[in-house]
Amino acid sequence: MKNGIDKKEIEEIKKMIDMALEARKSSYAPYSKFHVGACLQADTGEFYLGCNIENAGYTATNCAERTAFFKAVSDGRQKFERIAIMGGSDRVKLDFCPPCGVCLQVMMEFCNPETFEIILGNSDGEYKIYLLKELLPMGFGPENIS
Ligand code: THU
Repeated sequence: MKNGIDKKEIEEIKKMIDMALEARKSSYAPYSKFHVGACLQADTGEFYLGCNIENAGYTATNCAERTAFFKAVSDGRQKFERIAIMGGSDRVKLDFCPPCGVCLQVMMEFCNPETFEIILGNSDGEYKIYLLKELLPMGFGPENIS
């Protein structure tokens, strides 16, 4: 987990967490009632927002993180710096919400696991920052298939 960051970076992280909370408002989660928002930063500096989108046929559900990635990739972006994720049930305070395995695999496709940062926030204004390689050690990626 990353520690010791400068003031400017703290401001940017807080901004991304706020944007993830904003994205969470669009979450469509009538089945789980677990609402998630994500804010993804591309290497261009641009931000892409995503929310989870559930489906009556449960397996068609898309997580907030993948929504953000697919929006960004369909907009021409293919390299990313970091993502902020805010998620939780609509009845309780938000606790740290880690990405699922499928989302980590999508990150593996487009991000450097050594540098890509995954920011998890909670309702108390706290956050934790992980590298992709910490949450998906020895992940299978484009390098393995070339
Ligand atoms: N979900 C996300 O969108 N992102 C995560 O990091 C974890 C889970 C969604 C999928 C589903 O709509 C709901 O949360 C409950 O699993």
